[in-house]
Amino acid sequence: MLIVANWKMNPVTKKEAETLTKEIKKIVQKNKNATAILCPPALYTDIVGKTIGRVNNLFLGAQDMSWQEKGARTGHISPLMLKDMGALHTIIGHSELRELGESDEQINKKIRTALTYGITPIVCIGEKERDENGFYLGVIHKQIETALEGIAKKDYTDVIFAYEPIWAIGKSAREAMTPHDLYEMSLYIKKVVSELSSKTIAMSMKVLYGGSVEGQNAGALFEGGSVDGFLVGHASIDPGEFEAILKNVKEASARKAQD
Ligand code: PGA
Repeated sequence: MLIVANWKMNPVTKKEAETLTKEIKKIVQKNKNATAILCPPALYTDIVGKTIGRVNNLFLGAQDMSWQEKGARTGHISPLMLKDMGALHTIIGHSELRELGESDEQINKKIRTALTYGITPIVCIGEKERDENGFYLGVIHKQIETALEGIAKKDYTDVIFAYEPIWAIGKSAREAMTPHDLYEMSLYIKKVVSELSSKTIAMSMKVLYGGSVEGQNAGALFEGGSVDGFLVGHASIDPGEFEAILKNVKEASARKAQD
């Protein structure tokens, strides 16, 4: 069970980032069934990493990464910098960056670079809207295909896909995706990967869900959605919600184990 916390552009002071990390650390240490990765704004990478220290189910990650090692890239973060800070996971291709113009090709370059440097890419895919004719499935198909272009099939399992339908991001649990629809999408993603490689590879790939995951819907989404975890935005900067997500997922996986 993997929970990736995408803090986005929050909180707005270093002190708050430190306090939030301390609170999350306590929660995660009590919930050994889950592994959490904190992806703070790049400026807080150092303080968050130091505050995490050595905990075997809590790690530091990043929200984005450049495909270049160093040089003329104003405002970007190099894979070498991330490694130096101890961040071995990075979100890539978040819809908020795609919206600002990031293309599938640029995302593919970032994924390939991350794999070269031993950083696990958490690749966001997701449609803007749903249509009756199912064209959104083609959108997801293309995103997966271009994301994996030029990557050796044996390395596919080092990529984590985070399915984040854009229409479900930043809302509330009530407006998030239903477990049933998520189940269908998770199977679809694995089917596409399987066509590009093999069933064995597709089945061992991790797929996360993101889009208004809160304490209230986390258990049902985990139980019915057939995902390996969540990419959590607004609820990840609220320790109470974060704790509720972990607790409800724990209960859901106990129920699943009994079935
Ligand atoms: P949300 O964000 O949980 O606030 O919907 C998820 C994301 O954008 O990664």
